Amino acid sequence: MKEVWLMPGSYFMPPVNLIERGALKRMGYWARSLGGKRALVVASLGDVGENQGRAVLEALEAAGLEGELWAGAGPNPTDRMVEEASERYGAAACDFLVAVGGGSAMDCAKAVGLVVSGGGAIADYEGLHRSTKDLPLLVTVNTTAGTGSEVTNAAVITDTTRQVKMTLIDWRITPRLSVNDPEMMVSMPPHLTASTGMDALSHAVEAYVCLQASPITDALAYKAVELIYRWLPRAFDDGADMEAREGMCHAAFLAGLAFSNSGLGYVHALSHPLSARYDLPHGVVNAVLLPAVERFNLPVAASKLASLARAMETALSWRSEGENAERALKGFEDLRSRLGLPGRLASLGVRAADLPELAREASGEIVGKGNPREASTAALAQIYHDVF
Ligand SMILES: [Fe+2]
Repeated sequence: MKEVWLMPGSYFMPPVNLIERGALKRMGYWARSLGGKRALVVASLGDVGENQGRAVLEALEAAGLEGELWAGAGPNPTDRMVEEASERYGAAACDFLVAVGGGSAMDCAKAVGLVVSGGGAIADYEGLHRSTKDLPLLVTVNTTAGTGSEVTNAAVITDTTRQVKMTLIDWRITPRLSVNDPEMMVSMPPHLTASTGMDALSHAVEAYVCLQASPITDALAYKAVELIYRWLPRAFDDGADMEAREGMCHAAFLAGLAFSNSGLGYVHALSHPLSARYDLPHGVVNAVLLPAVERFNLPVAASKLASLARAMETALSWRSEGENAERALKGFEDLRSRLGLPGRLASLGVRAADLPELAREASGEIVGKGNPREASTAALAQIYHDVF
């Protein structure tokens, strides 16, 4: 049997999840109920991150809790950031973690949780289920609708020495309280709405076609695709459209739960080395790769892709399964271009000469192990070339 990343038949999710307008105001009550007293608030680097961190501190204080702000999680968070935040956690005598931001801040906080509970360096936890001790209470306050990190058992941290992205999959890093408040997402600029939304789409699609997909994850992933096609264009066109923002909260949450409990595939395996080498936005790279990877998967996933065309409402009942699967592939490209995202790697500054080495790195990615059709390194390089 191929190595897969999860325990078949086992399902994990945060025990408490808040999804609605104004949910941040209820966060403090739940954090206190779950035993938190003094939080390290892990926020994104920069002014936006600091403001989000302060909003979280206010919500904690309103519930009688204390907090210390560390706004140092950069995009593609690194081992050094994890080290710095872990030291801060100890120095400030914190007893729980609140991450606020997109995937970077949440992944960083998960990594901090591993280090402060189990000791050592974050590289010690690379791979599958390496922790041996429970983490402190971890609360995630999501400010983008895409990564799914607020509910997943996965984190990606850059190893600055080896210049690679480490994937950490561990059931203990599943947060215990997740907060999706559409009001926290209103200020997202259109390009971020687009790239994080396409990340959510790639989670749903990869979870739906992957080897460990089950009826439970299929239900989550299918509904996520339906909601993304209904709400993402509207959230992109008008960031203040609260109905669309709330729709995307639900979509990204469902997609996160889906892939956290089934797996991903070659979109993510091929995407990670690219964003590590060129520091590219994850969702933008995924959007370029998604149609090409699913075309590669077509011989084994036509039925599932045809079903996704129904979720997108582009399927035609009188057409064959193969034709409807093609409509799904076109639907991925149409949504990407509707959101103004590039369609080729060359336009992102990727160099053709790097592709063989990147394909070799992609072939070692854990996240690719769930892909429904196995590819050689040469076939992975071909997928890069197809969208170059
Ligand atoms: Fe992703």
